[in-house]
Amino acid sequence: MQTLENQNVVIIGGTSGIGLATAIAAAEQGANVWAASRSEGTIDKAKTQAPDSIRFSPLDTHDVTGLQQLFAEIGTIHHLVSAATGANRTMAPFMEQTAEQFSEAFNKFWGYTNVVRAGVPHLSADGSVVLVSGVPARKCNPGMSAISCVGNAVEGLGRALALELAPRRVNVVAPGIIDTAMFDWMGDNKATNFIRMSQNIPLKRVGQANEVANAILFVMTTPFVTGTTIDVDGGQLLP
Ligand SMILES: NC(=O)c1ccc[n+]([C@@H]2O[C@H](COP(=O)([O-])OP(=O)(O)OC[C@H]3O[C@@H](n4cnc5c(N)ncnc54)[C@H](OP(=O)(O)O)[C@@H]3O)[C@@H](O)[C@H]2O)c1
Repeated sequence: MQTLENQNVVIIGGTSGIGLATAIAAAEQGANVWAASRSEGTIDKAKTQAPDSIRFSPLDTHDVTGLQQLFAEIGTIHHLVSAATGANRTMAPFMEQTAEQFSEAFNKFWGYTNVVRAGVPHLSADGSVVLVSGVPARKCNPGMSAISCVGNAVEGLGRALALELAPRRVNVVAPGIIDTAMFDWMGDNKATNFIRMSQNIPLKRVGQANEVANAILFVMTTPFVTGTTIDVDGGQLLP
């Protein structure tokens, strides 16, 4: 197994939820961690929860120059993670969406392609890339066509890049319903909604960000794993 001790780990979208949990777990295992996202507010909140050693930067996945500058400052990257949401989640029946609304959901995917394109030139020969998709790629309810297609795009990109970038490794982690800030829009209904949503999950609960972070660290540190998608979803994909 590879160790994360003194490895340079960069997490775009690393200031909240799954990305932040990954940043904290990697730092606890001795990695040098850089975490970035758009908003100073999210960064300030993350700093109150994270070890002082994590270096936070304001950065948007759509800012190619900013990505190039950050990666050049870091130098060698051993593990590059994109966990950014990066777009408004377009939740509506396909026939009720405009082409613009449908396309907007893909801003997550374009952000991921920017992270990979800017980051891979700095990736070590034994390094890895981890992208985050989600259960809707392979199991979704009506109204989720846009996020399903985005998830499939991320998973397809992961497989294609694993071939092109070998011996560097590329993997995808696909979370189910995870209790993160992504659901803060539910306000006071969040807990009740999670109980209702859990009824369709074999383990009868939603997941926690650190459970997904654990899978991200597994693919980072296991040298024979590439081109795969690891599901962390409490069994939600079962028929
Ligand atoms: N939670 C779930 O149930 C679930 C399920 C399936 C898939 N996922 C996927 O898991 C990943 C992580 O989500 P999460 O649940 O951890 O959400 P989260 O807690 O809301 O975290 C999202 C992170 O992405 C950053 N971000 C968003 N847009 C960005 C951009 N354009 N550039 C740079 N950073 C950006 C956010 O910070 P700023 O706002 O400061 O930019 C934040 O750090 C996402 O790809 C999401 O689609 C989550």
